Formats: sequence, structure tokens, C-alpha cells
Amino acid sequence: MILYRARVLDTPDDPFAGGSLRSHEDAGLLVVDGVIRERGGFESIRARYPTGPVVDLRDGILLPGLVDTHVHFPQVRIIGSLGLPLLDWLEQCALPEECRLVDVDYARVVAREFVDGLVAAGTTTALVFGSHFAPAVDSLFSEVSRVGLRVTSGLVVSDRALPDPLLTTPQRAYDEAHALAARWHEVGRTRYAVTPRFSYSAGEGILDACAAVLKDVPGAWFTSHVNENPAEVAEVARLFADAEHYVGTYDQHGLLGERSVLAHNVHASDAELAVIAGCSASVAHCPASNSALGSGLFPMRRHVEHGVRVALGSDVGAGTGFSMFKEGLQAYFAQRLLGDAGLPLTPAHLLHLSTAAGAAVLGLADTVGDLSEGKQFDAICLRPRAGTSLDIGLRHAGSPEDALGKVFALAGDADVADVWIGGEQVSSGGFRRPTGPQSWSIAAETR
Ligand code: GUN
Ligand code: ZN
Repeated sequence: MILYRARVLDTPDDPFAGGSLRSHEDAGLLVVDGVIRERGGFESIRARYPTGPVVDLRDGILLPGLVDTHVHFPQVRIIGSLGLPLLDWLEQCALPEECRLVDVDYARVVAREFVDGLVAAGTTTALVFGSHFAPAVDSLFSEVSRVGLRVTSGLVVSDRALPDPLLTTPQRAYDEAHALAARWHEVGRTRYAVTPRFSYSAGEGILDACAAVLKDVPGAWFTSHVNENPAEVAEVARLFADAEHYVGTYDQHGLLGERSVLAHNVHASDAELAVIAGCSASVAHCPASNSALGSGLFPMRRHVEHGVRVALGSDVGAGTGFSMFKEGLQAYFAQRLLGDAGLPLTPAHLLHLSTAAGAAVLGLADTVGDLSEGKQFDAICLRPRAGTSLDIGLRHAGSPEDALGKVFALAGDADVADVWIGGEQVSSGGFRRPTGPQSWSIAAETR
């Protein structure tokens, strides 16, 4: 049992549905076995639990662990390859690197770098695009399990339009996915996601094999890309002449449902939004990637008006880093740039999009996403270095909303001082600090 004392910001009430930011200046969170058993004013909780360790975090801000709903494991080393549109970027930057993961030793190192990148950014839950190579995906699952991250991922499958080493057959796609799911689906905090790369590179046979895995692995997730770039959309329309639209290429194979997350959807028609909403699927909005590849400005207002659930994804390596604070800020920018067609976003919207909304689209709303009683203690403490713009801004913030705006404008990995997942403290490097009461009190005293 540990009692955390902190200034807490979270969004249990959806700001897109009239909710607002919850701010608790001097909260006590009593964490037992990784779960928040009680939350309230610190003094009143301490009065009821006068003994036991207290971790005093009042020199920072405690937020829920961040949730990234679209990020590519094999692309950590190619972040920052700027200047190309999607299909050229794939051919010249992403796919050559993804071919290197055929070497499982290489993949193991990349998995470690990738997991480190997530933790350093304060991401505690992620839907991860895996590799085309089953041993590489196995390495990823091993690494995330070692560190304790909540990760849903799977084998990426394709049978055309990519370099030969990345191609598979429907039978092999099924067999390898099924074997990986048997090892990792709903084991600890990992789950399996059926993952055709995109309809551009996946013919009918591969999509049918994906549907078969979804059917045979109860509770499996589905993720892919959709409507990211006009040249991609046009080619998918040519390849699937019978489909009503790009979303229809997945829907007609039975791949869309409440456990489906489609990335991008920048160039969506109303008919497609209606299909996505109708089957309760979700969209991962990846604003930094959309800007970096020049894909376009995400029509968030139309998604929300159609009732489509939206969360945020970093889309590393087209996205320019792991930080969900950056994604929140970029989402805000994109809506501003859309003018009247945009959806004005407040800091509370940004926090919701990067925490509770992500948890909801990943079916984890009862588990993580905010710091309410009954939730897992997945949390991050921001503690900017003295004298930085964020430190100065937070000390002069006029309100909790104002402080949160400064966080999204200014916070980066260096400001993420502590990360907890299920009550266990994790740090980048995959190294877990000891969690005994003694070490906690020492940590509290030395802050
Ligand atoms: N579409 C197909 N593959 C990819 C990828 O790796 N990144 C992005 N942004 N879009 C894709
Ligand atoms: Zn992507």
C-alpha cells in the first residue's frame, strides 16, 4: 500500500460530451496492488491511513499514463526522414528498414529501443503496428512483457506492392498470426491485433486470412491504415473496383467492429464515416505524421458529428517522435488551421484524446485512462527542470486549464520524471526501480 500525494489532472468526463478537466490540487491516491483503492483530499485519506509510506509528488504534476493508439515498432530508427509523401516515404525510408527486421538479433535491439522510446515519453498503453516477420513480433512482445507495458500488437501482413521479403501468403499469414496469438493474446498485459498493412498491399486472400484469425482468436483486435493520402486512396479504388470505398475494403471482409482501430482517415467520405460509426470502430488520428508526410488536415469535426470515436497516435516513424504531448499540440494546430471546418480543442480535449479516449478505443476504459478509484495506477509525473519554459509557465499558470495548455505546448520526454504501470515504477532502459516501502520513502525524501 502506498499513498501518493500530488496535484492531479485527468479527464474522467469526456470534454467532447460536455465534461471538463478534473483538477485536484492536493490529492491523495491510495494504491494497493497496483490499483487506486481510494482517492480524495490528501489530509482526509492520510487521517484514515496514518501509517505506511507516502510518496510526495507535489513538486510535479501527476497525469494518467499516456495512450498511443498507432505506432510502428520497426520504425524507431527512421524517425525524422522528412520531405516525402506517403508512398515515396514508404519505398525510400520505411520499408528498407522494415526488411532489416528479418534478422531477429537486429529486431531484438530495435524492440528494446522502441519500448524505451515509449516509456521515456510517458506512454503506458499502446496499439502497436508490428513487423512483417513473426520472430521480430515475438521479440517485441517479449520486451513489452519484460517492462510491463500494456501493448496490443501483431504480425503485419501483405502480399503485394512491397519489397519481396515483406510479402507472405494467406496460409502463412494465418498460421504465423495464430501461433503468435496463442503465445501472447491476453497473456499478462499483451493482446493480439490482426494487422494487414493496408488494402493497397493486401489482396482479397490476405484479408480473408485476417478475418479467419479474428474469428479463431476470440477477443483479438484489428488495425490497419485507411484514407491517408490521395494517391494511396486512388490506387485502392482501382485495386478494389467492387468496393464502395476504402473503408469498405475492410468492412466487406468482416474486419470492422468495436475492436477495430483504423489509422489516419484524413480523406474520409461521409459514407465511410457512417460505416465506421455504424460498426463502432475507431480512428487513430496521427497529426504529426499527417503534417510530416503532407497527408492533410484531419476532419475531426466530421468524425465527432458522425459519432466516430477518435484517439491519438504518434505514427512513429512517419510521426516525429513518441511524445503524445506533441501529438495533442499538433491535433490542436490542425483544427486551428481548418478554420470554420475545424473543431476548437481545449487543453482538456487534448488530455482526454491522449489518455481516456485512447483507453476507450482500446477497450480499456474500465482499467486505465484516468486516475479514478478502481483504475490501475498507470500514471506519469511531470517535473520540468528548474528554469525551463515549462517550469516557469507552470509556476505562473492562472488555472489548471492554463497549466495543462502549457504542458501540451512545452512538455517533452525530459519532463516525464516518473512512470508507473499497474503501480510499478518503470523507467526507460527497461529498468524497474525497487518498489519496497523503504525505497519509496527514501525517494520521497530526496526529491
Ligand atoms: N500505410 C501503410 N504503411 C504505412 C506506414 O508504415 N506508415 C504510415 N503512416 N502509413 C502507412
Ligand atoms: Zn501508420
